[in-house]
Amino acid sequence: MIIIKTPEQIEGIRLASRLTADVLEMITPFVVAGVNTQELDERMNTFIINELGAISACIGYHGYPKYTCISVNHVICHGIPSLTKILKNGDILNIDVSIIKNSYFGDTSRMFGIGRVPIMAQKLVDVTYECMMLGIEAVKPNAPFNDIGIAIQKHAQKHNFSVVRDFCGHGVGVAFHEDPQVMHYDSKQSTDIMQEGMIFTIEPMINVGKYHSKVLADGWTAVTKDHSLSAQWEHAVLVTATGYEILSLPSKL
Ligand code: MF3
Ligand code: CO
Ligand code: CO
Repeated sequence: MIIIKTPEQIEGIRLASRLTADVLEMITPFVVAGVNTQELDERMNTFIINELGAISACIGYHGYPKYTCISVNHVICHGIPSLTKILKNGDILNIDVSIIKNSYFGDTSRMFGIGRVPIMAQKLVDVTYECMMLGIEAVKPNAPFNDIGIAIQKHAQKHNFSVVRDFCGHGVGVAFHEDPQVMHYDSKQSTDIMQEGMIFTIEPMINVGKYHSKVLADGWTAVTKDHSLSAQWEHAVLVTATGYEILSLPSKL
């Protein structure tokens, strides 16, 4: 069942989403060579609690051990922040932040580059952002959810990249992961139709190599099977009367 949000819920989710984006703004100057991903995780948690009056939606979620996900290079998603994962020149990484504010959920992520990023890695980051935006532009009342996947897959394939299939976007706001599953590729499983008042994420994961993924022994870290680079961007989007509103934009642009 896909929840149609009430105006009051939309207000609450709008705030939670904006504050989640503010976490990414706050952490940006600290994402530099030499830092480990656990110190970034702890800095974001301190900000979430002390500055936003919110809590991380990740810690304890199905046993997840940290406050955020930080996925470096060939890690597709759900990278676990760690003292031993030290960022170095040329790395690309996704930081994915999910918070609960006044019992509403925000969820957004973006890519960062460390120092001088190789041309192919930067192209992957840019094309993945374009994929997310093309998916978002497919959002309007009465459009099939599959239009999102079609738009994303078409753009990824044009650049000879592949779309990860094992992870998808999702309804969000009242809970962390609601219906529907938002596929990022053309899928016969995607039969729902968008309606005004729905809120969901679009969060394509795009690989330089093949789309296949595997989860490491820690039970979380998803990596490309062929070890190729992977990128991801995520926004939470509201279906409006005429199209869409991106909810996960930071307070100060
Ligand atoms: N933020 C992720 C998403 O976009 C989910 C992370 S679940 C966690 O859906 F447990 F790993 F935090
Ligand atoms: Co999400
Ligand atoms: Co997320």
